[in-house]
Amino acid sequence: MNKIIVSPSLLSADFSKIQQELDLLEKSGAEWLHFDVMDGHFVPNISFGLPVLKSLAHKHHMLNDVHIMISNPLFYAPKFVDAGANLVTFHYEAVKNSEVLKVIETIKEKKCKVGLSIKPKTSVEKIIPFLDKIDVVLVMSVEPGFGGQAFMDIALEKISKLRKYIDQYHLSTLIEVDGGINQETGKKCVEVGANVLVAGSYLFGHENLSSRINILKGI
Ligand code: DX5
Ligand code: ZN
Repeated sequence: MNKIIVSPSLLSADFSKIQQELDLLEKSGAEWLHFDVMDGHFVPNISFGLPVLKSLAHKHHMLNDVHIMISNPLFYAPKFVDAGANLVTFHYEAVKNSEVLKVIETIKEKKCKVGLSIKPKTSVEKIIPFLDKIDVVLVMSVEPGFGGQAFMDIALEKISKLRKYIDQYHLSTLIEVDGGINQETGKKCVEVGANVLVAGSYLFGHENLSSRINILKGI
């Protein structure tokens, strides 16, 4: 089985003790750190943005996995790279189809890894043409905007289709899954080919963080 990467979502973190949270995540085996940026326009919630990323990006050694659920990613994506992102994932639905490539190239020009995310209702076929140009495809298993939602099984068929396509064309694109990930749903996603699992409510606020991370990793 592939090595599974766990990317804890900061949306569920206790920001009043954020450095302790980061230290504990790193010590517990998290390799990526998932920043859920929300603008209250593309999604019906506001989370945090550039100043928060800037202040936290270099306070740990995990990969800064920045998920921008915002409008106008073409304008803002480079700013998230400057603020410390190592991977910027934008939403297919936030731009016209004809602009997707431009956003991908804009992020790559900044020597940053690039991801493309699709909401539950968006079909996998829409992003197949971009798979060989991106480092990560982020499959949303909840409607973006909030942590603590229930996993949507529709994501499993999309992961499986992406896995087949990526393997058939020998691509190195990682499949990341985001929303409602826990011991049971995480295992299902890995079984159909996911590489990276984002988790918020399953990881934060519980005693046994490292065993929960290991459970998601399948170890
Ligand atoms: C939702 C975010 C997810 C969410 C995950 O819009 O993109 O990353 O915070 O939280 P859980 O794991 O609690 O569903
Ligand atoms: Zn996310």
